[in-house]
Amino acid sequence: MPRFDYQIFVCTNARDADHPRGCCDPAKQAALLRAFKSKVAARALPKVIRVNQAGCLDQCEHGPAVVVYPEAVWYGGVNESDIDEIIQSHLAEGRPVERLRIADSCLNTRACPHKPRPA
Ligand code: FES
Repeated sequence: MPRFDYQIFVCTNARDADHPRGCCDPAKQAALLRAFKSKVAARALPKVIRVNQAGCLDQCEHGPAVVVYPEAVWYGGVNESDIDEIIQSHLAEGRPVERLRIADSCLNTRACPHKPRPA
């Protein structure tokens, strides 16, 4: 099997509504994941693309979170209405969707101003 041209991880982690970090799938329906899978399949791009369900990607404050490899482009606040743009711009044309990117200053750092602070 050829390697994947793109592998997309979509967070479907769900937490209780009062959790301080929130979560990417409060409705617990995996709707974003299912929409990604169906839209990527429907486009039938001439690339090997895999959409995977992911647990918490530790970007909860920026969710719904999605990461696209091999470039490790992190997207936040992704809605179903954004999927077509991600497919066309990023997967088809190789141009990540800048408006959805999580800032490098927020990725995997305690300095992210969006993370809850201990009381
Ligand atoms: S719950 Fe989605 S990144 Fe943490």
